[in-house]
Amino acid sequence: MSTSEGAIAVAHPNIALVKYWGKRDEHLVLPCADSLSLTLDVFPTTTEVRLHPHATRDYVTVDGVLARGETPRRITAFLDLVRDRAGRTERALVATRNTVPTGAGLASSASGFAALALAASHAYDLPLEPAVLSRLARRGSGSAARSIFGGFVVWHAGAPDAPDPDLASYAEPVTDARVDLAMVVVLVETGPKPVSSREAMRRTVATSPRFHDWLAATRGDLQAMRAALAGGDLAAVGAIAESNALGMHKTMENAVPPVRYLTDASRLVLDSVRRMRHAGTQAWATMDAGPNVKVLCAGDDAEHVAYELRELSDRPTVVGRSGPGATLRTGARR
Ligand code: DP6
Repeated sequence: MSTSEGAIAVAHPNIALVKYWGKRDEHLVLPCADSLSLTLDVFPTTTEVRLHPHATRDYVTVDGVLARGETPRRITAFLDLVRDRAGRTERALVATRNTVPTGAGLASSASGFAALALAASHAYDLPLEPAVLSRLARRGSGSAARSIFGGFVVWHAGAPDAPDPDLASYAEPVTDARVDLAMVVVLVETGPKPVSSREAMRRTVATSPRFHDWLAATRGDLQAMRAALAGGDLAAVGAIAESNALGMHKTMENAVPPVRYLTDASRLVLDSVRRMRHAGTQAWATMDAGPNVKVLCAGDDAEHVAYELRELSDRPTVVGRSGPGATLRTGARR
């Protein structure tokens, strides 16, 4: 919904098949390498931005509770960008609802800032075309650049020597993918993560001796992933995604001090996935900045894979499939 004083937007998380892990510019949120993801159809974030002309600061609620600390600070910094561009000064009430546990490595910042970018740009009368919106969402959280779009999405790092590096870094849909990929989310733990992905990424870039090898590997993975998607090669998509994720975790585990998001419970799920694969089921794992495991498989196999994983791990599972890009909610009444 969009009116002159408010707008509501919905966005979904995306899970990277080739990960973004490392910034070359913290302020502009410019990544060191391209990344590629699938936007899911589960765990949407709904965000309302309503202008509040008489307020002297922004107010943020998350799932109905007034937020304090880092979250409202990041949201105000983001709204300042929108206000600057729109030439407006009014403060806002931001009400956001996640259906995914916040901060548990299930990409709530991606869906969160994608929904916020869309709702805020409309609330401040600054409707933006998708690539511009993607650049804006990137400033909130890098991976949010990808959640502006549905399905498979590539986020271009942009050439470091581009005349305007900010302009060069945005996401866009991958239009030639021929793979029906599902992701079974195994909810290992849903508490907030011990260290934010922002801090963990910073630490990895600054201290991990593996970081340069990681970048070289991820650049190769991106090319191979694009070819596998275009060629309809599910087995290659799964294998590249799993090795890319393991490489990212190994790289951060070598940071000083080490960053460890995977728990014993995550590793048990990884073992189950390997066992399933040896028994003939096409399934591969990927993990982000948290202990939860996302299991990649063919769309037709998803229910069966989810059932097996539930039996093997005794954890809840949720089947995610290719989902839509960020949308304004229309027809809502306050
Ligand atoms: C592991 O986008 O949350 O999920 O840009 O600092 O907000 P910031 O980081 P964020 O990092 C996501 C990292 C990842 C991999 C990925 O989604 O590509």
